[in-house]
Amino acid sequence: MAQQHWHTTGKVLAAMIAAGVLVIGIALALILRRGLSARAEPTLLETAIARGVRHLATPSFMHDARNPVPLSSGVLAEARAHWADHCATCHANDGSGNTEIGRGLYPKTPDMRQPRTQELTDGELFSIIKNGVRLTGMPAWGDPAGHDDADNWKLVHLVRHLPKLTPEELAEMEKLNPKTPDEWQQMQSEAAFLAGGNEAPPPATHSHHHP
Ligand code: HEC
Repeated sequence: MAQQHWHTTGKVLAAMIAAGVLVIGIALALILRRGLSARAEPTLLETAIARGVRHLATPSFMHDARNPVPLSSGVLAEARAHWADHCATCHANDGSGNTEIGRGLYPKTPDMRQPRTQELTDGELFSIIKNGVRLTGMPAWGDPAGHDDADNWKLVHLVRHLPKLTPEELAEMEKLNPKTPDEWQQMQSEAAFLAGGNEAPPPATHSHHHP
């Protein structure tokens, strides 16, 4: 009797192991076929799961939170400067995500002007900015030394404003994007030239090497 029992347990165990091996095998085959490259587009299933988990991970009191910072043109200007300096490297000034870094991340930086982002509540946007998104390139900005909550709420106002940015606002932001020392110098001498200084116009950035 006992022996009979062990016999069935053994069979069940063997079947479970076989099933496990099969699942791992299929997963490996999929990885080998699709690769682990960050360049790939996430599958619909991956995207749905990731966004669903993120939705569930936002505490409900945060989900319905209202932006405590009153909207004003000053607040938007401040947030634009902040965005140009901290966020545009990945998200681009216009929020399209069309940057070298953004395109290479997995998942890619989304076009934040689209409904997919705009449909998130203010509270959700705030939580994402403050806490980042795990397993993605989206960093957390909740460090009390740098960003305080008010800064992040101002950025929420800006996210809402992204689809309406004017060309003037975009030009202003471009000046505030992080620059290499060379780019700074170029910009400075251009400004001096335009201001009527007698400095020569800056040389073109591309150099020609003729043998
Ligand atoms: C290093 C690159 C990087 C930087 C810098 C960055 N982000 Fe992100 N961000 C991402 C990526 C990647 C995602 C997409 C994550 C995902 O798909 O879940 C994202 C997603 C978001 C989202 C959610 C949009 C959506 O629809 O899923 C918000 C809001 C956001 N970022 C705001 C900001 C703000 C504000 C800053 C600057 C303070 C910033 N990000 C800086 C990479 C970055």
